[in-house]
Parts: sequence; structure tokens; C-alpha cells
Amino acid sequence: MYMHGTSKINDKGHLEIGGCDAVDLAKTFGTPLYVMDEALIRRRCREFVDAFRTSGLKFEVAYASKAFCTMAMCRIVEEEGMSLDVVSDGELHTALQAGFPAERIHFHGNNKTPHEIEMALDAKIGCFVVDNFVELHMLNALAGEKRVKAKMLFRITPGVEAHTHEFISTGQIDSKFGFDMGNGAAYRAVEEALKLEHVELLGVHSHIGSQIFEVAGFQAAAEKVVAFAAKVRDELNVTFKVINLGGGFGIRYVEGDTPLPVSDYVGAIVSSVKTEFGRFGYPVPEIWIEPGRSIVGDAGTTLYTVGTFKDIPGVRKYVSVDGGMTDNPRPALYQAQYEGMLANRAGDANEEVVSIAGKCCESGDMLIWDIELPRVSSGDILAVACTGAYNYAMASNYNRIRRPAVVFVKDGQADVVVKRESYDDIVGNDVIPDRMKQVVKSVQQA
Ligand code: LLP
Repeated sequence: MYMHGTSKINDKGHLEIGGCDAVDLAKTFGTPLYVMDEALIRRRCREFVDAFRTSGLKFEVAYASKAFCTMAMCRIVEEEGMSLDVVSDGELHTALQAGFPAERIHFHGNNKTPHEIEMALDAKIGCFVVDNFVELHMLNALAGEKRVKAKMLFRITPGVEAHTHEFISTGQIDSKFGFDMGNGAAYRAVEEALKLEHVELLGVHSHIGSQIFEVAGFQAAAEKVVAFAAKVRDELNVTFKVINLGGGFGIRYVEGDTPLPVSDYVGAIVSSVKTEFGRFGYPVPEIWIEPGRSIVGDAGTTLYTVGTFKDIPGVRKYVSVDGGMTDNPRPALYQAQYEGMLANRAGDANEEVVSIAGKCCESGDMLIWDIELPRVSSGDILAVACTGAYNYAMASNYNRIRRPAVVFVKDGQADVVVKRESYDDIVGNDVIPDRMKQVVKSVQQA
């Protein structure tokens, strides 16, 4: 398994993260357990911020909290001087409860409800990223009722789509997000916003995809967005103060993943934005970006306890752990691949190829197919690397499995930042209607 951040093998032959022995963590906090390497999270934050600082431009690095949103995480983002992107009332509430400065919050989403917009206006958040005409008019009306002017960007789809190893220019009209540039919707949106009294258009936003390993997609998006900015400046007399190029910077999950250093992504974005605006004699606006996965992904490791086996001679050996698609739905959803190791026997040589199954009642609940490990026994602690992004965030209670705890580890200290769910949490929102309570009684009496 690749050793991310502060991970290493200690003198006991155990995996150690943030100066904490993973076997001790499993004993103390139970498994499954999400372990987050705080130093690595902070390092990633600083890589983005420092790369922009050297550009001399104004910038905001907004952490896309959808990747991993907890109050402690919001504290780190605040302390590192970054902004925060939220996409729901729940993420907004988390940030506000954590004392995150509202003026550094950006609100995304293709279907913000009136309640969410009011909540964000009342909190005085920094910026709305407006996705469609319905939202634009709703925002203007609600801001008007509150006698405020809402700062906003338009999310536009520049017709660039990026995947891990490639980018393609597409019509991309068929997307639920944003205003299409190609069919004139983005242009009409700007025209419309300029007529409205209670919104202030700061600029435009584009997000081209996720887990991207190349700079070409960002450069192509910058080119198209800047051409759009120049057109509306010339024709509608509006100069953008902000250009937001979204998130999507890739990370290394498994061998063969080849992410670029953060400074390369940022360097390429800055230089193409500068060049493109220069081409039109346009003052270079603030550049905003929204990394999620690349801030928290490789900082996360999930610890599981190995339970049962099923060896099918000549076919495969299934090794089952005490979690699965409930704490990590990504293999089932996206065929995502992960690396792992036995945390309690980290120095042992690999002896067998097994497949790691989760405990849910579903054949698709597999975490890793065909991984080489030492001979595995019940009670071993399996560590799966790179689970910091979109794992806790997408966890579920399928099969009424309780969601695991999250601990931050740093310099030998482990702090719980999310408690493991209790049985009370599992039934806490359940209600038995009175008429069914009668039934329960009569069954018991019979
Ligand atoms: N900004 C916007 C507008 C986004 O839609 C996203 C991700 C981000 C920023 C952050 O992207 P990142 O840097 O994390 O790639 N659940 C999927 C990923 C969904 C990403 C959705 N949008 C997964 O587990 O791979």
C-alpha cells in the first residue's frame, strides 16, 4: 500500500498514521473507523494557497465541503484561511455551527430551495453560485424582501468535460447544471441579471469534472470562459471581478493514478487565465477554485476488523470486514479502486490474493477485488487507504448499520471529530404510531 502523508510502518510492524498506532486506534475507538491525517489535510490546503500566493493575483481557494463536511473540518479550513463551498442547508448549518465566517461561504446547487436561500441570506454568506433562471429570480425576490443585494456568480457550462486522463470538448447541453454557453443561455442570464436590483453579478463559474490528471481541460475551460467574459464586456458593458474554475484535481488512489503536483494545476490555471484575459485587454479578475477530493482524499484511511472468510477453490477467497458499502459506497457506485494492508502485520510479506467484501446483504458490496495480503486471519485489522473524500460524506445506514466514528490524528494525538452512531441514533427518528403500539401489545399478550 502506498504510504500517504505521515503514514509509516512503526517498530511493532504496525501501520502508524499521525504518530498514532493504527492497531491502538482500532482498539480504542472500534472499527470501522475513519482516520484522518490532519497534517496532510493542512499540507494540501497550504499547497493550494501558497501556489496562488506566488501568482500575485487575488484569489480564493474554497474547499468543496461535499467531499467531507464536519464541524472540525470547517475549523481547519477556517484556520488555513480558505473559503468554503456548500451545496445544502445541512452543509451551511455545519459551517455556521463551526463558527465559519459567513462571508467566506459560497453556496452551490442546482435546486436551492427558498428556505435555503433565505437561510444563506440571513447568515450573510459571501456568494451564491446561481445555476438557473428560476433561482436567479427567486434570489432577487428574496434578497429584495430582506432589502439586501446578493453577490453572485453564474455557473456556466463551457462545453468542456474532463475525465481522469483526458478532456473532451462537447456540446454538453445535456447537463442538469448551469447555463449553457453554446446555446446562448449564459448570455441571456447575464442580460437578465443586469436588470435585477437585488443581485450583484461578480462573475462566472465553471466546473469541468472530477479526479482530473491533466491541465488541458482547465486551460480549455479558461479559454472559453474568458472569451465569454470578453463578449459580455463588449456587448453588455459588464466587467467580471471573479472567475471561478471549480474543482476536480485528481489524487492517487492506486498505482497508475498520476496526479500532478498542486502547484502544476494552479500554475497552469493562473497562466492561462492571465494569457486569455491579456488577449482581450481585460483586467485579470480574482481567480477562485474549489478543490474537494485533493484536500482530504489521501488523508483518510479506514480501519476494519476482518471477520469471516469464504474460500471457493479455484475461484477466489472472499475476506469479509465489519464495514463495506455503507462507509464506502464508491466501489459499488463508480467501480472505484483502493489499496489496503493489514495494519497489525504491516511488515509481513504478502502470501495470498483475496477479495475484500463488506457485510451488507448485497453481492455488489465489495471494497477491493484481488488484493495481495499476508495470510489473513479473523481479527486482523485491514487498513484501506485514500478514503478521506466522498466516504464519510456518502455513508449510509443501509441494513441499519451504524455510521463509523471519524478521528483526526496528529503528532501522536487522536481526537474524535464525529462519534460512532449509537443504537439510539439508529431508531432515534423512528415513530411507532399509536395504533401500531396496540398491535405490539396484543401480539405480546397472545
Ligand atoms: N465544485 C463543484 C461545482 C463540484 O460539483 C464539485 C464536485 C467540486 C467543486 C469538487 O470536486 P473535487 O475537487 O472533489 O473533484 N461523489 C463523487 C464525486 C462527485 C463530485 C461532485 N462535484 C466521487 O466519489 O468520486
